[in-house]
Amino acid sequence: MNLKDLYINYFISKGHKQIPSAPVVPENDPSVLFNTAGMQPLIPYLMGEEHPYGTRLVDYQKCIRTNDLEEIGDTTHHTFFEMLGNWSLGDYFKDESIEFSFEFLVSVLNIPVERLAVTVFAGNDSIPFDEVSYNKWISLGIKSERIAKTEDDNFWIAGESGPCGSDTEIFYFRSDDEIPESFDPEDERWVEIWNNVFMQYYKDSEGNVTELPKKNVDTGMGVERTTAILEGVNDNYKSSIWRDVIELISNISGLSYEGNEVSMRIIADHIRTAVFISADNAGIKPSNTNQGYILRRLIRRAIRHAKALNIDINSDWEERIALLIIDKYKSYYNELLDNKDIVLEVLRSEKIKFNRTLEKGLREFEKATINNKDIDGDTAFHLYDTYGFPIELTKEMANEKGLNVDEKGFILKFKAHQELSRTASQGMFKGGLAGNGEVETKYHTATHLLNAALKVVVGSDVHQKGSNITSERMRFDFSCDHKLSDEEKNKTEDLVNNWINEGIDVVKTEMSKEEAIKSGAECMFIEKYPDIVTVYSIGDISKELCGGPHVSNTSLLGKFKIVKEESSSTGVRRIKAVLIDEE
Ligand code: ALA
Repeated sequence: MNLKDLYINYFISKGHKQIPSAPVVPENDPSVLFNTAGMQPLIPYLMGEEHPYGTRLVDYQKCIRTNDLEEIGDTTHHTFFEMLGNWSLGDYFKDESIEFSFEFLVSVLNIPVERLAVTVFAGNDSIPFDEVSYNKWISLGIKSERIAKTEDDNFWIAGESGPCGSDTEIFYFRSDDEIPESFDPEDERWVEIWNNVFMQYYKDSEGNVTELPKKNVDTGMGVERTTAILEGVNDNYKSSIWRDVIELISNISGLSYEGNEVSMRIIADHIRTAVFISADNAGIKPSNTNQGYILRRLIRRAIRHAKALNIDINSDWEERIALLIIDKYKSYYNELLDNKDIVLEVLRSEKIKFNRTLEKGLREFEKATINNKDIDGDTAFHLYDTYGFPIELTKEMANEKGLNVDEKGFILKFKAHQELSRTASQGMFKGGLAGNGEVETKYHTATHLLNAALKVVVGSDVHQKGSNITSERMRFDFSCDHKLSDEEKNKTEDLVNNWINEGIDVVKTEMSKEEAIKSGAECMFIEKYPDIVTVYSIGDISKELCGGPHVSNTSLLGKFKIVKEESSSTGVRRIKAVLIDEE
């Protein structure tokens, strides 16, 4: 039996109910692009809401972390991974949680106790030393030299605010060396395999910490890492999770893994993640914004590395890899089979698109870097705009040659280009009249309200795909797979008009890009913004990165009316709407 099944069975035997993995694209949390931990979909329940499955839960959750996407290629990091978790929602707490972990590791996985070590929370000014956990570990037979007391590393929170608490982390000695008597968490031969978080606090965005209504347990164990450990391999890609995928890439390319590790790992990792993103019911497609942009970068980076292995890009290499991955995971994730055709089509069409310009782009890159010249902003933009090279890809290729890319120059060029297409689409160059007059400004604000209303009425996965404003009307394109019903249109209209009637202030703030993303501000093309960005907020209804201009209060807009709803292209609907003066 594999680790996932052993884990689920063990916790079911301890009274836990198995819950299905949530989608990789969060359903109700616009502040993150992907679920990054098992607890994320459970936040409302950790905060006190009753879970329909009860107070003891267990699952394997699909997670995606892409902040170090360009680092993938080593032995242990993956953009997609599965996290095993067991939860107590106000049920058991530290003692039982630690007992379960210990029993599972030692009696089910048969890990020798002498290979284990743990950390516990040392205590600080506001929260005391976690004596309960410490004593529990001692009582189970973990020697005191193998228990490290740390402060910063033993307090867990997802991001800046949310449910949180002290934790105890479990480490495994992954080396053939003699196991040292005492445990040093900084010694890399000790790898963390499991984290048990005792969530009893809530930290708000101002940093205030309060007690949660219940004391919860949130745990996380990475499937890839623990599987590699159990199978005694030091490279995750040599474990049973990856071995056959690497073998297939080796067959396709006619090359051995040894000597080509980095490219093969990148192809394996990125195709797997692309499969899971595009199989998600959210219907993400490669694009230049948000999740779609990550998907695009993953596929294009995999293609570049396939090319580096001399794989014939026009062959069905990506389909063969995707099919193997689907086959490996299909019994755990139905959506892989349900959406198999979509997945293959996403990969194929993105490949065809990129492959059209890849060769020329690579030549252009070589030309630009002749004599070891750094890449200037204009060239980086040209590679992006004409040849479809994501800036991150250009940076990676430059890095491989020890060269730099003028990213600031790229962003300036990118923004200038955006401005140009915006003014052009507003007809500035035609009549010289359209632009940012009073009426257009109102439509700008109405666009943000409409975007927010559609998310409420149609679904949080609605995203802006385009907009066009004249002094006569606004046009708004958005991702949506169906024709809006009359009820949906009426509800949307009513919601926008309610917000107009409420007279809500429109507030402009400047903040760092990180802050903006963290605050959940909606935006196209996160990666491309400068470090300081402008965010327009309308109460707590809407928050968007935007250049403006906007009215100061929604009451200035008049009455909002949808005049037409039609298809724009596949998966994209278009609304035309007007603002009617009410005087
Ligand atoms: N939420 C905890 C983690 O991700 C378990 O480490």
